[in-house]
Amino acid sequence: MRNRRAALAAAASLALTLTACGQSGEGGSKEKPGGTEGATIGIAMPTKSSERWISDGRNVVKDLEAKGYKTKLVYGEDDPEQQVSQIENLITQGVKGLIIAAIDNKSLNSVLQQAADAGIPVISYDRLILGSKNVDYYASFDNEKVGRLQGRYIVDKLGLGKGEKGPFNIELFAGSNDDNNTRYFFDGAMSVLKPYMDKKQLVVRSGQTALDKVTTLRWDGATAQRRMDDILTSSYKSQRVDAVLSPYDGISIGVLSALKSDGYGSGSRPLPVITGQDAELASVKSIISGQQTQTVYKDLRKLAEVASTMVDDLLKGKKPEVNDTKSYDNGTKVVPAYLLQPVSVDKTNYEEVLVKGGYYTDAQLK
Ligand code: GAL
Repeated sequence: MRNRRAALAAAASLALTLTACGQSGEGGSKEKPGGTEGATIGIAMPTKSSERWISDGRNVVKDLEAKGYKTKLVYGEDDPEQQVSQIENLITQGVKGLIIAAIDNKSLNSVLQQAADAGIPVISYDRLILGSKNVDYYASFDNEKVGRLQGRYIVDKLGLGKGEKGPFNIELFAGSNDDNNTRYFFDGAMSVLKPYMDKKQLVVRSGQTALDKVTTLRWDGATAQRRMDDILTSSYKSQRVDAVLSPYDGISIGVLSALKSDGYGSGSRPLPVITGQDAELASVKSIISGQQTQTVYKDLRKLAEVASTMVDDLLKGKKPEVNDTKSYDNGTKVVPAYLLQPVSVDKTNYEEVLVKGGYYTDAQLK
């Protein structure tokens, strides 16, 4: 706590010092001294292997530049050690704020201590950093709700709760076990699916229902594909899969490949209901062509805006706006958060949400 206060105080006093040096001070507004103009913000993103993080990096850079900052954007190629050394470098290079989407949420403790010692505020971006008191704010979505939307979609699509009794066969996939979001997505989905599993209206033929049995290291599509291949071979010789809970579009694509190799999607074997997350371009196209069934859209433009405004506020000695001060305990403290709302998207509403909402153009979806 003391360290965080010290960091914030240092950030605020830095803002004042810079203002006193007359680097900006335009308009003379007291609330927004603008003295941090020209400061560099470090942005550490996890990987370029997924389209969403490329958009995240681009959006955060754009928003910070619009606020007068310089930026240094790095990608850790899904390697936790590489990410730690990248953040160390950013600190050495003198960044005044850090926005971090962690690869391994427990690996950043010591590098964040270095950031705190240098008075650098830290925003945990999308994924909560665990075990460190030196995380100032968290910008994300309502992650539990993401899972509830996926679970609810499966239940509704199968007609359960609307007179249909099943039983239906379902298989469960979760995200990377070193990402704090994984548990939230899974718990949210299970809060909807479990009552039907208890009543045997949903049956997991593989028997793999515990979170530690269904995770997918680094959210890797090929890993998910292999697991689905194995499940189809071991548990579905004479049965068919009716639904797959997938937490992320890249995993959905891997699962779909396994299903298609096994003959699903042709003739008498329709593809199961399959969820996703992120509304990545390939998956939205897949939804339009009737393969993946659903995704959860999270407006990354808004997430970038929230995170960059948090940094800007902190550097100007202002308290960032939050809307959740109880859900995200990182093991050392509850990190104040601003959570955005996710939206379920399928074939029936993608035009309305994604195209009219300006996220994709019709031409991109062709
Ligand atoms: C999660 C994120 C998801 C998805 C996943 C894989 O942390 O919340 O939206 O992007 O990582 O990249």
